[in-house]
Amino acid sequence: TTIIAVDRDGTRHSLVWDEDQTLMETLRDNDLPVLASCGGTASCATCHVYLEEPVAARLGERSADEAELLADAEGFRECGSRLSCQIGHDAAHDGILVELAPEG
Ligand code: FES
Repeated sequence: TTIIAVDRDGTRHSLVWDEDQTLMETLRDNDLPVLASCGGTASCATCHVYLEEPVAARLGERSADEAELLADAEGFRECGSRLSCQIGHDAAHDGILVELAPEG
C-alpha cells in the first residue's frame, strides 16, 4: 500500500505502508518527524495527523481515549484529526493523503 505523507513544511513523500505496521510506524520509520513518545498506546498525541474526510469516515468513530487526547491537541480538527498509532494497515487506504498536524 502506498500513501502520500505531507510534512509540516508542505513537502510530500510517497511511502510504502507494510501490512504489519500502523500508520504511525510507517511515518516514523520513514523519518517523518513523528515523535510517538508513548510508543503507540494512545497516550501522547504526538502522532496526530489529518486525514481527508472520506478516509476518516471509513475509520469510524474515535475511541474514547483517542477522542479525549485529540480534543486537547494543537490544531485539532473535528473532521480529520486522528492518532496515527491507532490506524492499522488496510489495503483500502492505498493512495490516501496523510498530513502531519502541528507539534503539540
Ligand atoms: Fe502516542 Fe500515538 S504514538 S498517541
